[in-house]
Amino acid sequence: MCGIVGYIGYREAYPIILKGLQRLEYRGYDSAGIALYDGNNIKLSKTKGKVADLKERLENEIPTNGNLGIGHTRWATHGIPNDVNSHPHYSNSGDLVIIHNGIIENYEAIKTELIKRGYSFNSDTDTEVLINLIEEVKKKQDVKLGKAVQIALNEVVGAYAIAVFDKNKPNEIVVAKLGSPLAIGVGDEEFFIASDASPFIEFTKNAIYLEDEEMAVVRLGKKIKIRKIKDDSLVNPLMQELKFNLEQIEKGGYEHFMLKEIYEQPHAIKDTYRGRLLAKDGIVRMAGVENHKEKFLNANRIIIVACGTSWHAGLVAEYIFEDLARIPVEVEYASEFRYRNPVISDKDVVIAISQSGETADTLAAIKLAKEHGAFVFGVCNVVGSSIARETDAGAYTHAGPEIGVASTKAFTTQITVLTLIALKLAKEKGAISNSDFHYHLEQLELIPDKVARALESDKHIKAVAETYKDASNCLYLGRGYNFPVALEGALKLKEISYIHAEGYPAAEMKHGPIALIDEQMPVFVIATKKGHYEKVVSNIQEIKSRKGKIIAIVTEGDVDVKKLADHTIEVPETLESLSPLLTTIPLQLLSYHIAVMLNKNVDQPRNLAKSVTVE
Ligand code: F6R
Repeated sequence: MCGIVGYIGYREAYPIILKGLQRLEYRGYDSAGIALYDGNNIKLSKTKGKVADLKERLENEIPTNGNLGIGHTRWATHGIPNDVNSHPHYSNSGDLVIIHNGIIENYEAIKTELIKRGYSFNSDTDTEVLINLIEEVKKKQDVKLGKAVQIALNEVVGAYAIAVFDKNKPNEIVVAKLGSPLAIGVGDEEFFIASDASPFIEFTKNAIYLEDEEMAVVRLGKKIKIRKIKDDSLVNPLMQELKFNLEQIEKGGYEHFMLKEIYEQPHAIKDTYRGRLLAKDGIVRMAGVENHKEKFLNANRIIIVACGTSWHAGLVAEYIFEDLARIPVEVEYASEFRYRNPVISDKDVVIAISQSGETADTLAAIKLAKEHGAFVFGVCNVVGSSIARETDAGAYTHAGPEIGVASTKAFTTQITVLTLIALKLAKEKGAISNSDFHYHLEQLELIPDKVARALESDKHIKAVAETYKDASNCLYLGRGYNFPVALEGALKLKEISYIHAEGYPAAEMKHGPIALIDEQMPVFVIATKKGHYEKVVSNIQEIKSRKGKIIAIVTEGDVDVKKLADHTIEVPETLESLSPLLTTIPLQLLSYHIAVMLNKNVDQPRNLAKSVTVE
């Protein structure tokens, strides 16, 4: 996820682009850049860091006049955050300039081809490959910029929202979209381009939102023409009147970032497996694992180190790795591991999981593991973060920035990456049959749609939240793959609503927590069809006979638990190993609604920080 912004018209572009980037910073903030064009010269400046750093640099560096400009605030996907990898990017001739939000999956093959044809590259980005592909098409086929963009986009696989201009055409910007958002603000004799409407809300209330696989040449003095990228057919532009305020736009119309991020999960999970999960071909592609296959396959065991929600994702991974790949796994709190003189050797593989990539305890655990010769693999969301740099290899989750302090999409995307790794290793080891492997891939590919279906219960979940919002204590129970989900559900509730909550393996209840159960105690039980269903039903009966209130997460169409529970919330059916990706959704929503009803600061709960850089 990145933010893009552009302007063409009669005003100075610089202040509009700069303010627009500041408003889009919630979409990514590891580097920023601007290109301004005054009809004679392009002035391009970019830097690692925040938009404020770019502003400081620009004020000392260059004149900032020009009525055409494009800007970018980056959330790195290819290439670490540094000045060179920041956008905008020039083509080799220096005539074309691009900003891009998205991922071009087949960029390596295109890059190899372009190098053969004499192109050179300054950055490690997929975007610089795309702009040179556009330049090559434009030159070779002697077509205008719009056509060249269209032809090039038909050659790429991936996701994009792009804006491109040509030094020789000072009156136009070409835009296109697939998978990433792109809005065009339409004013009198001026146009605005942005990832959402926040950069231009004070200038115009008229906006066109491009749909996937659409492009437009935004030309001064002309009406906007929108075309389908695939077949060049014209599309009727749908002008919308903007009724949102600025804050609502940044949160995509959601009341809180946490809710927005919960709802982003279908998309985020797809972004995580995009280019890695090739279900039709029966392939899992993960360079970080492939390049170090022997380390994984010859490992005595895998040790997972992490904190908080990431630790819970690690617990889910323990089940997956052992179940599918038959590799022994230990999951450690990074804070404990680093101080207890653990037994580690060069026969161990350590997987460090961290959304922020900056958690001090996880970083220290990595250093310790490396000192003992272990191979350390990172699963991070933030590209170029300390943990991403410190580890020997890794895989990014590509969830986009998580702004809400309570982790939601980071959890499900971490599980997605770890599932892909486990499946890949299972296949390499021959621990899984061909048919099972294919079936798992197919089922994983269906998860985003099923998450979307689970989200449809939101209204019902809100009503359940209303019933239990005044509870002082809650218990969360699950077995097998869903035991870590119970822990995660309890953590979500306590951190944002400040209600005391505990997660337990359902069968452990009778060894202590059962003493807490009375008619005041809500017990959230994950009771989906494939996860030791009968055993969980027995646990539910034990709660019922002690008058506890039962809220059960069940598989669509469930009959038995419905007869026993006070409330049930349905999720679609899937493989047991993938069920945490669905069962966690209602628990996130429950915590969210309870916290809102209690008037708590959902996005910034007291005493917490998004990245815990102290031990
Ligand atoms: C919970 C939460 C924290 C983090 C933990 C680790 O919602 O956000 O428990 O999961 O602080 O953070 P990362 O994953 O950034 O290492």
